[in-house]
Amino acid sequence: MSEQRPPTPIPTSSPAAPAPAPAAAASAAAAAAPEPSAALTGRERGGTPSGLLEVTDLTVRFGDTVVVDRIGFGLDAGGRLGLIGESGSGKSITALAVLGLLPDGAAATGSIRFDGRELLGRSDRELSRIRGDRIAMVFQEPLTALNPLWRVGRQIGEPLRLHRGLSRRAAAAAAVELAAKVGLPDPERLVRAYPHQLSGGQRQRVGIAIALACRPALLIADEPTTALDVSVQADVLALLTRLVHEAGTALLYITHDLAVVASVARKLAVMRGGRLVETGPTETVLRSARHPYTRRLLAAAHRTSWTGPTGGPAPELVGRPAVEPAGDLAARPVDGRPERTSKAGA
Ligand SMILES: Nc1ncnc2c1ncn2[C@@H]1O[C@H](COP(=O)(O)OP(=O)(O)O)[C@@H](O)[C@H]1O
Ligand SMILES: [Mg+2]
Repeated sequence: MSEQRPPTPIPTSSPAAPAPAPAAAASAAAAAAPEPSAALTGRERGGTPSGLLEVTDLTVRFGDTVVVDRIGFGLDAGGRLGLIGESGSGKSITALAVLGLLPDGAAATGSIRFDGRELLGRSDRELSRIRGDRIAMVFQEPLTALNPLWRVGRQIGEPLRLHRGLSRRAAAAAAVELAAKVGLPDPERLVRAYPHQLSGGQRQRVGIAIALACRPALLIADEPTTALDVSVQADVLALLTRLVHEAGTALLYITHDLAVVASVARKLAVMRGGRLVETGPTETVLRSARHPYTRRLLAAAHRTSWTGPTGGPAPELVGRPAVEPAGDLAARPVDGRPERTSKAGA
């Protein structure tokens, strides 16, 4: 595919945020918003005590400005939740709160329980032990997420050195394996490259390799394909969903694109202006969106010409039951390349 080409210039195209709604629709949505944070809690999910992540009443403020407003959602081990909303709705801040990486000046209240333990209020030292190990993140901009001065192999192996105590040599060997696993061509050579020598799609594959190195229980992917060339977005999405499926990793997938999230997530949480305005199983939300804002997102998705992950759900997925893509994707080599890992597809 085009991302296998030799070093390419850094892609500068970053699709603009979705078009803002007409003011009338927006204010109608705001007026209908007072559902006290449409929380998808453990109770709503059937009260399973096995919840991997339980976010309750999470509020994030910058000074007096509330940017995340009493939101709640839960995610079971191996589950997939799509967090969707327009630009500025508070999705990234929510993700950063879970990781304990909120920017200076932000204050979070409420509760973020992971694996039964409260994360809010923990020291950065404690959180850094969890980050990159039990919870990992794939960022929107692979280039800024990578260290420009380190060869990619060192970056892929770093979490294993940090969290698993691997020697430099063992981490380097693991990095080659991981590079192969994420479908990077000529992994032995590629691990010696620097980020600027890779294409955008290859860099995001490196980001995915880093995130999955320690087999985290939870992966947060924040618009992982938005900054990529359209031609490789579907492949990267398919890779991500296949790998989390194989590893049993829970996925919190953040996007502004309803069509994409519908193909990835079993449950949706729709965010707007810092609040959750709608939550529920993907199928239900797509079939009978109650909130005007969700309906507007649906209408916008119908107008897009997104083509779906390779061999995966087609654009017309919106409005029909969400397809669980992992099963069939799992058996498929990435980009048609032979699988280099020993792990069998499920
Ligand atoms: N460092 C910051 N200082 C002040 N406000 C911020 C900062 N980062 C984000 N915000 C505000 O928080 C809100 C939510 O931002 P964000 O979570 O990045 O939105 P999304 O990811 O949904 O596009 C926005 O209104 C944004 O302006
Ligand atoms: Mg964001």
